[in-house]
Amino acid sequence: TTKIAVFASGSGSNFQAIQEAILNGKLNAVIELVVTDKPNAFVIKRAENFNIPVFTFTPKSYESKAAYEQEIVNVLLEKEVEWIVLAGYMRLIGGTLLSAFANRIVNIHPSLLPSFPGKDAIGQAMDHGVKITGVTVHFVDEGMDTGTILAQAAVEVVDGNRAATEERIHMIEHELYTKTLSRLFEK
Ligand code: GAR
Repeated sequence: TTKIAVFASGSGSNFQAIQEAILNGKLNAVIELVVTDKPNAFVIKRAENFNIPVFTFTPKSYESKAAYEQEIVNVLLEKEVEWIVLAGYMRLIGGTLLSAFANRIVNIHPSLLPSFPGKDAIGQAMDHGVKITGVTVHFVDEGMDTGTILAQAAVEVVDGNRAATEERIHMIEHELYTKTLSRLFEK
């Protein structure tokens, strides 16, 4: 059973999908900790519903990225976390976390990378007028959504309807993330 930490800044629907896959026996893992940089993020409520501990930090109260990342590393090591799973965590991972968890950090992004990296990938895709977008699961490196691609799935844009497009993307995300993680953790 692989011990993981899920990092999230927002709603946490991907966190919830991963936890449900674990409870349904589809993913051989345990979420030891949720890490969030947003004290009001809805993911905190979701984690509490599953009795999963949450580590909340406010980046501004540290003197540097290295300082808060070192504190996170300490907590993760104490809990013997093996993999970091980013699920809507809206910060770049720095050298402190990357070197402590080399090739053990994955991310999901709501576009077919390398198209539309960074913030609001769904809005970027719709503004660009693409008809097909999608979802990417990739290893994390120092760049913005640039690491080695592990899996992708295409999603058709619902013309002019952002909410409907987003809903499709989220459904595919939940499926693709749990499948890809189970493949990774088998090794
Ligand atoms: C997801 O769509 C995820 O792909 C995206 O944030 C959303 C979080 O949703 N991540 C990024 O844009 C990373 N660059 P959730 O909080 O409901 O899981």
